[in-house]
Amino acid sequence: MKNTKFKSIYDTYTLNNGVKIPCVAFGTYKAAAGDNVEILKLAIACGYRYFDTASFYGTEKFLGQAVRESGIPREEFFITSKLWKEEMGYGAAKAALSRSLEVLGTEYLDLYLIHWPQPSPDYREWKTLDIETWRALEELYDEGKVRAVGLSNFLPHHIENLLKNCRVRPAVNQIEFHPGHTQETVVRYCGEHDILVQAWSPIGRGRVLEDSLITELARRYSVSPAQVCLRYALQRGIIPLPKSSSEERMRQNQEIFSFELSPEDMYRIGAMPPVGWSGEHPERERVKS
Ligand code: A2P
Repeated sequence: MKNTKFKSIYDTYTLNNGVKIPCVAFGTYKAAAGDNVEILKLAIACGYRYFDTASFYGTEKFLGQAVRESGIPREEFFITSKLWKEEMGYGAAKAALSRSLEVLGTEYLDLYLIHWPQPSPDYREWKTLDIETWRALEELYDEGKVRAVGLSNFLPHHIENLLKNCRVRPAVNQIEFHPGHTQETVVRYCGEHDILVQAWSPIGRGRVLEDSLITELARRYSVSPAQVCLRYALQRGIIPLPKSSSEERMRQNQEIFSFELSPEDMYRIGAMPPVGWSGEHPERERVKS
């Protein structure tokens, strides 16, 4: 299907504002407790330069330290952060970015996202709140404090509300995406509106790795089940954000450029039964597995 031209994690997409973004990131949510700096230093040593964090994760501090101590110039990194549910609203969003910049120890972010479209499933005033929050992000973008602005976990009706009321269009939408949970309605809507999709939990936090189709394909292509999942996102034109605490798996997760899933296998993955959903949805209470 869509994208088979990339050769390494350093190849880039161009966002709708012209900013270039690498095609694979490193996720920092739940980087192993207590050992975050070492894990992030290891990821940098393994070659990752695009890191995804959020104020909610508690990993901004460790990422900032790892980047500084790497000695690699800040401009060689692509750093994303997000404002949390309690940081929504015009003033709160501006304060949230100041905090994130300070904790990360950086002058600017490459990408800044609204983490969830509504603070809770029953929050009725989300339309106004999202517009106010977005207005703050637009100003931060104008001021050069963030090179691009976007969304996370937004459904089409949430995005539509912003598109009708924005000056700066959202550049990305980061959603849960992996074989068995591909949120096609959201992916299609984003494609139609030039919003790049990013995949959190691209290997379904391990839940997908034992699926019979994924293991069959892994055997046939002589790769691991995780590599099948990451390659699937890549070929769909979606940025996967894998995370791992092991050097071997960090490296493995970059080695997704030497094989290509056939159109038939892409369709089979796209049509497999639901599996591995985290239980998170912006309009529902979390479903615990
Ligand atoms: P570990 O840190 O032991 O590598 P997701 O990003 O889909 O939520 O999944 C993250 C989980 O998947 C992490 O717990 C990580 O565990 C594990 N993981 C990451 N890469 C691989 C891989 N290549 N093979 C198996 N498990 C992996």
